[in-house]
Amino acid sequence: MPKTIYSEIELPEIVRKANELANKLNFPLMPEGRPVGHKGPPSACIPSVGKLLQVLASGKPNGRIGEQGTGAGVGTAWLASGLRNDARLISVEINPTLATAVTELFKDYPNVEIKTGDWHKVMNPNEPYDLLFMDAMPRGELLNPSNWNALVDVIKIGGQIVMDDLTPVEQWLPEWNDIVDAKREFAFANPRVVGVEVRTTQTTSALIITRTK
Ligand SMILES: C[S@@+](CC[C@H](N)C(=O)[O-])C[C@H]1O[C@@H](n2cnc3c(N)ncnc32)[C@H](O)[C@@H]1O
Repeated sequence: MPKTIYSEIELPEIVRKANELANKLNFPLMPEGRPVGHKGPPSACIPSVGKLLQVLASGKPNGRIGEQGTGAGVGTAWLASGLRNDARLISVEINPTLATAVTELFKDYPNVEIKTGDWHKVMNPNEPYDLLFMDAMPRGELLNPSNWNALVDVIKIGGQIVMDDLTPVEQWLPEWNDIVDAKREFAFANPRVVGVEVRTTQTTSALIITRTK
């Protein structure tokens, strides 16, 4: 019997539908990942990140799972495909057109809620998450060490944050050498978390960060 080669990531039905929605809304899909130095609007999560989200969500039965930045619902769909038992998914999108379209996509998913607004205001800091996909372009200011405690408090002890769209350091362009590497600083210099960087394509990586304290 021929050996099965597990090289393809199979897309769940709801992810296929979210991809179709992204195409309809002209929300960029870059399934192969971004080339180094690519400048362009934010894009939907790539299959290797989606699979990571599905696997992590599957490890949180009855959990409270969040997403900052719904986009066209592709990451939402991957997370939704991993929900177990009574786990709930809350995704927040600032663009009302996107939020309305994705709400329609998930109308038959009672455990998925799309909220419209700025996640800073919409996500209640008193209701921490078991898993949070931070995908609303966290920039230096938000990830400044003075904000680390507030950000860590958004997840439970043992809970995890996922950030994607990093460029592996050895592929950095020379002009980036002076910029603050805010996502990695948060993951690797923060005494309340442990983090790991995983390669998602040849030119992209993601961080998985677990709160320890
Ligand atoms: C990278 S895209 C999200 C892609 C999506 N998470 C996925 O995996 O397919 C970033 C999204 O964040 C939204 N966004 C930006 N700032 C936000 C904020 N403060 N609150 C909520 N959404 C925000 C943008 O409108 C955009 O749709």
